Amino acid sequence: MKLSLLFAVTQTWLACSAITHFEDPRPVKRVRLVKQGTGKAVYHVPLEDYLAAQFDHALLGIQQAVSPPEAARGAMQASPSREHPNYFYHWVRDTGLVMDLVADLYAETSDQREQERWGTILADHATFSRGLQLVPNQSGGPGEPKFYMNGTAFQGTWGRPQNDGPAVRAFAITKYGETWAHRGGDLSTLYRPDLPTTTVIKTDLEYTAHHWDDPSFDIWEEVRGRHFFNLLASRKALLVGAELADRQDDSGAAEFYRNQAALIRDRLDSYWDPELGYVVTSRNRDEGVSKSSNLDVQVVVAAIHAGLDDGIYTPESDRILATADAITRRFQYLFPVNQQQKTSGIGPAIGRYPEDVYDGYGVSIGNPWVLATAYLAELHYYVAAKWHRDGHFTLTAVNLSFFRRASPTVARRFGADSLRDDNVGVTFDTHNAEFRAILKEVGASGDGFLRRIHYHSRGDLNLYEQWDRVTGQARGAKDLTWSYAAFVRAVRARKRLQL
Ligand SMILES: *[C@@H]1O[C@H](CO)[C@@H](O)[C@H](O)[C@H]1NC(C)=O
Ligand SMILES: *[C@@H]1O[C@H](CO)[C@@H](O)[C@H](O)[C@H]1NC(C)=O
Ligand SMILES: *[C@@H]1O[C@H](CO)[C@@H](O)[C@H](O)[C@H]1NC(C)=O
Repeated sequence: MKLSLLFAVTQTWLACSAITHFEDPRPVKRVRLVKQGTGKAVYHVPLEDYLAAQFDHALLGIQQAVSPPEAARGAMQASPSREHPNYFYHWVRDTGLVMDLVADLYAETSDQREQERWGTILADHATFSRGLQLVPNQSGGPGEPKFYMNGTAFQGTWGRPQNDGPAVRAFAITKYGETWAHRGGDLSTLYRPDLPTTTVIKTDLEYTAHHWDDPSFDIWEEVRGRHFFNLLASRKALLVGAELADRQDDSGAAEFYRNQAALIRDRLDSYWDPELGYVVTSRNRDEGVSKSSNLDVQVVVAAIHAGLDDGIYTPESDRILATADAITRRFQYLFPVNQQQKTSGIGPAIGRYPEDVYDGYGVSIGNPWVLATAYLAELHYYVAAKWHRDGHFTLTAVNLSFFRRASPTVARRFGADSLRDDNVGVTFDTHNAEFRAILKEVGASGDGFLRRIHYHSRGDLNLYEQWDRVTGQARGAKDLTWSYAAFVRAVRARKRLQL
């Protein structure tokens, strides 16, 4: 079902009157997309207007997803859709990834009301999560992936366990806890050294430290094995957790977490495949769908959420750039929708992985996903901003393809074969006349992905899960909370890129 924008606005106000903290911060902007008096959507609004309206709507979507009517306080729906498909569940990982953003929103605002709005959501999430850790469940531990919105464990057959969930939740709640403590909160409600554990973060860290090497289902809940995403998320949880542990007088645990993180670090390199030229997503697959390419956008999602600014599989590291480029080229070629539209400046719609057959309702053929496309946008903004801060970047054979696609200037300078040897690099820095031009082009390439989202929105600000690979029509769960969060992240990264 596709809601008209007007209907969505009406629905919003109904929700507002029912639950007071669901307020639209700037309601006027959203309506700008509707032609006065007609209720008809205006498709061709300028990109900036679309982004502003979609951004506000996405923030509202995130707020409305937490503690909705008929749910336990602190539960986050993946989507309000209850049938075809039913996404009215709380997923531990998906929620954690959204809370990772909410913790940033909370940390960065100086506005008192905003702080309260996001702080309440984060506190409720932490409390609800602690409750979930104690609920009887089929995984027999925090790796249980999915709960009913009333906080009881989902009873059906499912991909269990999903051990990335506790790791993501731990680093998201830790980020919140740091800001909260800074504003006078008591960290010991979130982390205490007690064993057996009594607090939400410590429970997730102990589980992660002992189980990161167990077979687990992946972020799409389809493949059992050992996954790059899970490893990188576990590493981050343990490293930021170790700092928290030190602070909470739990230095023995801190040391244990750091040692486990070092073991994970060693494991990560086995995911780089020099022949393929990208980071593969899974190793030791023993159950679930088989992906002959082993190429998956979840590697990019991992770098964005779980990179640690230490160059180890961070978004700007050459291996992640090479992977992002391989994904982009593959989907550019795979989806008919990427070849049809004639408007210039629109980047490719991105899917999860090339062999995907989940169509948003059942199994037929895979499609582009809104969140995958938004993460690619974020990656481009993030890396351009990073190189701008650093004042330089280097091209080599590993990452040249990324630059050639994202920057016409680089494509002109370096023909297809000009940088063969991995060790031979060309560095651009602020003294170079082309430095800024290339960064601008990388940023424009990021805009391409957001233009793609704009193009398919057709005036409707509801972000679904997917677009049909042929027609571009929205598909799958409506109002997908993760789509909103990925969009907000991309726009925030765009704002931070000031060249
Ligand atoms: C999960 O369920 C088991 C029993 O099935 C229970 O012992 C456990 O406490 C539950 N939660 C956790 C975090 O282990
Ligand atoms: C929780 O929700 C599920 C699904 O709607 C339902 O089957 C179950 O009975 C509910 N449990 C409680 C304790 O309300
Ligand atoms: C490109 O790859 C090389 C070799 O790994 C690396 O030294 C360089 O920093 C990378 N450049 C960028 C911009 O990531």
